[in-house]
Amino acid sequence: MTIDKGMVNAFVEGAADLDPEEHGMIERRKALLGPAYRLFYQRPLHLVRGEGVWLYDPQGRAYMDAYNNVTSIGHCHPAVVEAVTRQVGTLATNTRYLHETVLDYAERLLATMPDEIGHLMFTCTGSEANDLAARIAQSYTGGTGIVVTETAYHGITQAVSAFSPSLGQNVPLGPHVRTVPAPDDTRVDGDVTARFTADVEAAIRDLQRHGFKPALFICDAILASDGVFSHPKGMIRSAVDAIHAAGGLYVADEVQSGFGRTGDALWGFQRHGVIPDLVSMGKPMGNGYPVAGVAARPEVVEEFGRKARYFNTFGGNTVAATAALATLTTIQNEKLMENAREVGAYLKEGIANLAATREAIGEVRGAGLFLGVDIVRDRSSMDPDAEVATRIVNALRDEGVLISACAKAANVLKIRPPLTFSRENADQFVAALTKVLASID
Ligand SMILES: Cc1ncc(COP(=O)(O)O)c(C=O)c1O
Repeated sequence: MTIDKGMVNAFVEGAADLDPEEHGMIERRKALLGPAYRLFYQRPLHLVRGEGVWLYDPQGRAYMDAYNNVTSIGHCHPAVVEAVTRQVGTLATNTRYLHETVLDYAERLLATMPDEIGHLMFTCTGSEANDLAARIAQSYTGGTGIVVTETAYHGITQAVSAFSPSLGQNVPLGPHVRTVPAPDDTRVDGDVTARFTADVEAAIRDLQRHGFKPALFICDAILASDGVFSHPKGMIRSAVDAIHAAGGLYVADEVQSGFGRTGDALWGFQRHGVIPDLVSMGKPMGNGYPVAGVAARPEVVEEFGRKARYFNTFGGNTVAATAALATLTTIQNEKLMENAREVGAYLKEGIANLAATREAIGEVRGAGLFLGVDIVRDRSSMDPDAEVATRIVNALRDEGVLISACAKAANVLKIRPPLTFSRENADQFVAALTKVLASID
């Protein structure tokens, strides 16, 4: 089985018998959208509707969306649908005009952050947010050097793809970028925190040795692409101290771990007891409406603000701010972070129970409703098994349950249901996984 290292769980031509309609649509897509796109699954999904945790194909078949980190409060949540509809019918302008909603939102969002973080700037995507965060950090520090984890993904712009190693060998890293192994406590001998800190320190020294002044260490607090590493809490704290000691900044990439997903706190970095200099956010921020941003310590952005005019046509527009406000209000009012903690723990336990009889499950890890299941040849060797992971992902899709995979070795099941996931949904998930694991043996 071919596993596309450029994107785990990518559709591979010929891997499954497709009906003529599916085949036709794929050909049309190729002709129209060109060669750079990838589809998920050996049998790609054609979706026409979503509601809550469910997605529907044209025949009305329901799929449980357990890979959802955009419409994170559930597909087509009525609070967001109504707010966006109302606003788009009232006023769609940008941040060059005075408008309350963007201010109300910034106030509400900043109230969830440590006191040290005082500004919020708006972008449309997570890539743009990381691009802006890197610009600000490079301007503030006068350096260019960047430290990232070795299978991290931070986005698609020219600057950000140069520090997104998960894009694969064919997308070169910048000469000013150093990678460090993710803090994989299952495979590192000894203290994983000490090891991670030593790796970041060595990367900083190597940057300096090559004449690059360190500007930033950027880390996604759940290490989503690296393989979902959530514990021990606090494991990134000394690495943050190391970048500060070298005159650089810590950018918390909260595109994956933000907005309550990890259950313990609204922000992933809070689980580790660190205070970032810059926080990038995106995906779930508008529950499907494109809105993203960078929160910053005021002193870090001060000089940048004086020197560089910042305007982003759609970033923080009246509709985006409305969508973001409705999403945050729903997360808080419906106690979705608490639900992520409670149902996430229940789901994790349900999957971990399967490990008792399934040698392929090396470890179940994660926090809240962001789980990783490490698929291995056997638990004594912990050798990653990407082929079995891919078979599980595709068999679950055929069972009507959507997940994907991640990690350097492409062997970790990535499970990320909406924050509204119920215990009943978790039972349904575990039942499907049980059936699929039995069929894989
Ligand atoms: C951790 C992380 N950062 C940044 C991005 C880029 O976000 P976007 O696709 O909105 O540009 C992603 C997207 O998957 C991400 O997972």
